[in-house]
Formats: sequence, structure tokens, C-alpha cells
Amino acid sequence: MAESFTLLSLLEEKPGEFVSGEELSQKLNVSRTAIWKQIRKLETQGYKIEAVTRLGYRIVERPSRISPVELNLKLRTRSFGRNVRVHEVVASTQDEMRLLAEQGAPEGTLVIAEQQNQGRGRMGRHWVSPPGKGIWMSLLLRPNVPLLQTPQLTLLAAVALNRAIGRVTGLDIGIKWPNDLLIDGRKITGILLESATEDERIRYVVVGMGVSVNLEASDYPEEVAAKAISLRMASGRVLDRVELIAEILQEFEELYDVYNSQGFEPIRLLWEARSVNLHKPTVLTTASGQIEGIPRGISETGALLLETEDGRMQTVYSAEINPWEQKEQKQQS
Ligand code: BTN
Repeated sequence: MAESFTLLSLLEEKPGEFVSGEELSQKLNVSRTAIWKQIRKLETQGYKIEAVTRLGYRIVERPSRISPVELNLKLRTRSFGRNVRVHEVVASTQDEMRLLAEQGAPEGTLVIAEQQNQGRGRMGRHWVSPPGKGIWMSLLLRPNVPLLQTPQLTLLAAVALNRAIGRVTGLDIGIKWPNDLLIDGRKITGILLESATEDERIRYVVVGMGVSVNLEASDYPEEVAAKAISLRMASGRVLDRVELIAEILQEFEELYDVYNSQGFEPIRLLWEARSVNLHKPTVLTTASGQIEGIPRGISETGALLLETEDGRMQTVYSAEINPWEQKEQKQQS
């Protein structure tokens, strides 16, 4: 694995250009036959490598699968994603990560799956995770903060994904409270935080991220098709999932560092600047019924501050939020 990693980095150094077998064997200090064997190994991992006499080798196609080797090459993080497991198919990456977390996996550990057959979303919903088209991944955090502050991490995750995806795609992405990412009102990303706790402290948090990258309209079940959109559908191009993962992890790690050194305030400001709900009439569906009001901001702990009709400010920790105009529709559905 270590050898093919170096060969790959040499080929990736000059994209599109040939690198001679001689240069490769000198730099890697192995025979030309060993280079050939490593090339074959890369081909089994989904790379297509052109070999031309006297010119050498060059990459003509990269794997459509998420390859840990390629991810490692693209990562610019300190720890996030450095310890990574990539699965072909799992029930849910959240469960895989919980197992690793209980075995003592370090902060920043990442589990990715090409496909989930029991992907889950917020409020017990199913999360559509077809093979090879999305980013279905879980990141492990071991924050040293009280349980009460978990909502802050939920918002931090939304800002990280918003900034990273916005940078790669150039698309205008808003955040629907607490952490759905939307393009023109349609969801592109869902985030699910699950924590393990002990005596009001967080032992660890599993941040589940589902990004609809290259899904097509036909990949969505009828009931979600009108409410969801993929980055491919919104941008008109197929996106490189590994590049997106690397960007998300870098942004996440940087914001998490800011959060750990400067507290929640900078994150709160970034979140509020991207919110699609603030200062607009809204209806919130909570476990105990519907509340109407105007979201005015985020509290110190990360909860939503809702101004209700009587002018009071109510703190909301968990609910489904919708524009007021959709109230009737919501009640009918
Ligand atoms: C939501 O309801 O919006 C949250 C969706 C979270 C989906 C991701 S996909 C990776 C991880 N594994 C899961 O089973 N869920 C999360």
C-alpha cells in the first residue's frame, strides 16, 4: 500500500503528463518490473493508466469509487479523515462509527460508505443513500464540552459543509435551521449528530453527513423528489466526491479549531449569515405541537431564539421548521 501511494503521488504530480518508467524506478528505488506490478495494482483499484513506450505512464481515468489512497493524497488536514474506513455497503455509517468509537478510535476518524441500506436521518426518517453517487460518511468528534452545548456542534457542521460545498461548486447555498443545506429551497445535504454521554458530559459525537452529489432525479423516491436536489442537478456537472470530502474535512477541522480556541461566537455569526429562516414568519413543529413566530437568532448554547406573537423570546432546541406560508400544506400532509 505504501509503495503504490508513492507511485500514485509521482503520477499525480504532473496531471496529464507522462512520467517515464526510469524516473519512477529511480525515485522509488525499485525495479521496472516492480513499477509495472504497482501500475497493475492501481488499475485494480479503478485507475486507468496509459503506458507508451519511451514516454512512460500517465493517469487517464481515476476511480469512480472513493479510494482511501486518493483521499489521503488530497487531504490537507491534521487529523480529520487521516484514519479512514471505506465500505462498499453498510446499514449505516453511524453504526460503524459507534463501534469504532467504543473501541477507542481517535477524534477525526472517518467512516465512508458507497451505499447505505439503512441510512437514517433526523426525526427517525430514512435517508436515501444509493451506491456510488453521494457522500455518506460519519466523522468522530471527542469534544470537551458539556452536553448542553451539543447544538453548537450541529450548527458548526452546517457551516463547515456550507462553506466547503459552496467553494467547490460556486453554488449559492443556504442553511435551514438547524443544519439542512438548501439550494432554492431544496435540500442537498443532511446532517445527523448522535452523541454518547456520561454524567452530563459528551463522551463522543458521531457527525453523520449525507451529501447528494451526483444523484439524478430518478434516484429519489417520489415523496422526496420535489424537496431534494443534488449538486449535479443544481450545477449541471458531475462532481469529484473525493475532492469534496477533502474540502469538507479541511473546513470542518479549521472551524472546530476556531471553536475550541475561541468558543461558539464566531461560529454563531457565520451560521446566522447563511440562515434562510432568520427574521421570516415561521412555523415550528415540535414534539408537543406547532409554534408560530419569527426566528431572531441563535442562543449562547446553540438553540433557536423564536419571537412568538406575544413578543416573548422562546428557546427552541429541536423542531421541524418551515416558512409560515407552508403551514396549511404541512397540516394537510
Ligand atoms: C437529515 O435527516 O437531514 C440527516 C441525514 C443524515 C444522513 C447521513 S448519511 C451518513 C450518515 N449515516 C446515516 O445513516 N445517516 C447519516
